Amino acid sequence: MTPGRPLANVPAVRRPAALIAVLLVAGAVAGCGGAGIAKPGEADLANGKTLFQSKCGSCHMLEDAGTPGTLGPDLDDAAVGDRIAGLEPSSFEALVRQQIDEADPPMPRHLVKGDDARDVAAYVASVAGVKLAQQNNPGSTPQ
Ligand code: HEC
Repeated sequence: MTPGRPLANVPAVRRPAALIAVLLVAGAVAGCGGAGIAKPGEADLANGKTLFQSKCGSCHMLEDAGTPGTLGPDLDDAAVGDRIAGLEPSSFEALVRQQIDEADPPMPRHLVKGDDARDVAAYVASVAGVKLAQQNNPGSTPQ
């Protein structure tokens, strides 16, 4: 009788190391992504996008999010002038944040709060009007 093959002898120690490597790479990618606004530990742009799609997209078009709303302004159009004028992304983020907190009807206030509001504002600021600004002003490199 031949002894069965031993169970796969994968050193358990390796796995956490591999996981940590993956997390480090993911962190590095997140750090460079989103047009350079979000640093790790600051805004979560993926969360911002998901929230934008569920909370804001019914009223606002935004190409990157693929949202169809028409009750409110198209946020790419709303942003493009500021992009071309060179408004800092951080200022743009603050404008969106202010709109979330101080909107007038029909836009409800505080649709998102706290970290979620930060994430949505950072997300919108990272994408709104970027493509349009590049088309209208091809030499520029919007942040
Ligand atoms: C019920 C519809 C509705 C929803 C939902 C809504 N908005 Fe609005 N939003 C509007 C309308 C209408 C305006 C224009 C208001 C005005 O000009 O005073 C507006 C204006 C804005 C502006 C200013 C645009 C500009 O031209 O300066 C921003 C930025 C904005 N909304 C972001 C958001 C975000 C982010 C969310 C989700 C958290 C959101 N909105 C959800 C209706 C909505």
